[in-house]
Amino acid sequence: MAASHLLLLLLLLAPVADSAATRVFSVTDYGAAGDGSSYDTAAIQAAVNACGEAGGGRVLLPAPGDYLTATVHLRSRVVLEVAPGARLLGGTRQRDYPAERRRWYVVLAENTTGAGVTGGGEINGQGGAFVVRPSDQKNVMVSWNATGHCRGDECRPRLVGFVDSEDVTVHDITLNQPAYWCLHLVRCDHSVIRNVSIYGDFDTPNNDGIDIEGSNNTIITGCSIDTGDDAICPKSLTGPVHNLTVTNCRIRTKSSAIKFGSASSFNFERLLFDNITIVDSHRGLGMQIRDGGNVSNVVFSNIKMRTRYYHPSWWGRAEPIYITTCPRYPGSKEGTISDVFFINISSVSENGVFLAGSRHSLLRNLKFKNVDLTYRRWTNYTGGLYDYRPGCQELVKHKTGGMMLEQISGLEIDNVRMRWSRGELKGWDVNPLLFRPSTIDRLSFHDWQSLNVQ
Ligand SMILES: *[C@@H]1O[C@H](CO)[C@@H](O)[C@H](O)[C@H]1NC(C)=O
Ligand SMILES: *[C@@H]1O[C@H](CO)[C@@H](O)[C@H](O)[C@H]1NC(C)=O
Ligand SMILES: *[C@@H]1O[C@H](CO)[C@@H](O)[C@H](O)[C@H]1NC(C)=O
Ligand SMILES: *[C@@H]1O[C@H](CO)[C@@H](O)[C@H](O)[C@H]1NC(C)=O
Ligand SMILES: *[C@@H]1O[C@H](CO)[C@@H](O)[C@H](O)[C@H]1NC(C)=O
Ligand SMILES: *[C@@H]1O[C@H](CO)[C@@H](O)[C@H](O)[C@H]1NC(C)=O
Ligand SMILES: *[C@@H]1O[C@H](CO)[C@@H](O)[C@H](O)[C@H]1NC(C)=O
Ligand SMILES: *[C@@H]1O[C@H](CO)[C@@H](O)[C@H](O)[C@H]1NC(C)=O
Ligand SMILES: *[C@@H]1O[C@H](CO)[C@@H](O)[C@H](O)[C@H]1NC(C)=O
Repeated sequence: MAASHLLLLLLLLAPVADSAATRVFSVTDYGAAGDGSSYDTAAIQAAVNACGEAGGGRVLLPAPGDYLTATVHLRSRVVLEVAPGARLLGGTRQRDYPAERRRWYVVLAENTTGAGVTGGGEINGQGGAFVVRPSDQKNVMVSWNATGHCRGDECRPRLVGFVDSEDVTVHDITLNQPAYWCLHLVRCDHSVIRNVSIYGDFDTPNNDGIDIEGSNNTIITGCSIDTGDDAICPKSLTGPVHNLTVTNCRIRTKSSAIKFGSASSFNFERLLFDNITIVDSHRGLGMQIRDGGNVSNVVFSNIKMRTRYYHPSWWGRAEPIYITTCPRYPGSKEGTISDVFFINISSVSENGVFLAGSRHSLLRNLKFKNVDLTYRRWTNYTGGLYDYRPGCQELVKHKTGGMMLEQISGLEIDNVRMRWSRGELKGWDVNPLLFRPSTIDRLSFHDWQSLNVQ
């Protein structure tokens, strides 16, 4: 290209690039009322479309205002900016959402580049309106299953979704009360999720925090998640998950704080979880690999957690670490889990670490370094069960231990403390390690202690 042409190109591009960031489309200019009761869908969508056609920018929902809406479809380079004090409220009627269940989101970006959500305000799914019968064990939820798209109680809209998109940004925003899953990335590449607060109902099933489906190069940092179901959940139903980094987050959940799967048809490679605090959760760090995908190259570092037992209707029994490869059906393909490193981990928990491969899919090369596990019981639920749920042998009567091991090839223990709070074990049968030798090989211990504490 001749130099003059290059200069012309730069001149043409410069103003566009410059003004996209500063170009603001306020939904009130398109007729939004923000009164919380009339639908502002048409105004919001018109602002998004105008912004997209202008080459991108910000679509502002100013404060104060409660903007009730049916599904908003984002466009490339359009960032939805909900101002501090403003709320985008998701509709609670089935006709507020597209016909296909896979597109049921309050905010949806499909095939976009550079779309995002930010602004300091809140996106609210009005999840309470989907509770048929509240229960502190597990709420009974509305089901839109008459469509035939979905079954049972998994038939509700998600909150925010990015599908087949690149350069996704979600930052400085509160995502509140999703009816079902909260933030969902599907086959995305290069996403940054930063300083996002997620609040779901603690008693609502399927109230996941962030689900990362078949996506590469995802960064999640500085997030706070308090919700009923799995908080950060990489899945591989439709594609592999590569290069996920999660740092500096705080999590409380009635289910698993981190959970790989269970949808796991493709591989999970190079995932890092660092500096994460998990409080009062049912399970801490989990993998349930059930569909033939393989997991490799995963690091969990600098993690503090406290896991407690809530209720038998939620899977799990307070395991701080729970890794299984139980196949979904008896004939399902079996995936392996290999090269997983746990370093600088401490937990206080009502149950032990559970590591179980299956006959054709072993756990390979697991390493625990600088790990401090304190066992104590403070709820009234009985112990004495292995919980394989979902699937496989489900619940099995079994002594409980500090680490329960099955079908493993290569486990290295280096500087690991087990601390038993003897006074508070309530009859728990306290074996530090439980395994049948025939299913374990290459077990190595260096600097391991099992201690009584107060
Ligand atoms: C997204 O792109 C795919 C493949 O090009 C196409 O089939 C689909 O209709 C697109 N979806 C939307 C909402 O544009
Ligand atoms: C729909 O869900 C309701 C409530 O969970 C259930 O009673 C009903 O059998 C379901 N119907 C179908 C067709 O799945
Ligand atoms: C995080 O986002 C909130 C708004 O959701 C904002 O008030 C706060 O200043 C942000 N924190 C940082 C460290 O950027
Ligand atoms: C992620 O990377 C893998 C491996 O290169 C590739 O097969 C897959 O298509 C990528 N997915 C996306 C959504 O870019
Ligand atoms: C994962 O990250 C590494 C290092 O940055 C990079 O070389 C690789 O291409 C990435 N994988 C994918 C699928 O993008
Ligand atoms: C760890 O994460 C917390 C937020 O949960 C943050 O305040 C702290 O600065 C982080 N520590 C490091 C060393 O990054
Ligand atoms: C998982 O690994 C096994 C054994 O190497 C391989 O046969 C299988 O194809 C892998 N699965 C995927 C989804 O790549
Ligand atoms: C683990 O903790 C030690 C001691 O605090 C520290 O020196 C080391 O860098 C940490 N390792 C990782 C991977 O964070
Ligand atoms: C355990 O049961 C006792 C007696 O019923 C009750 O006082 C206590 O609050 C219960 N503890 C928990 C953590 O539920």
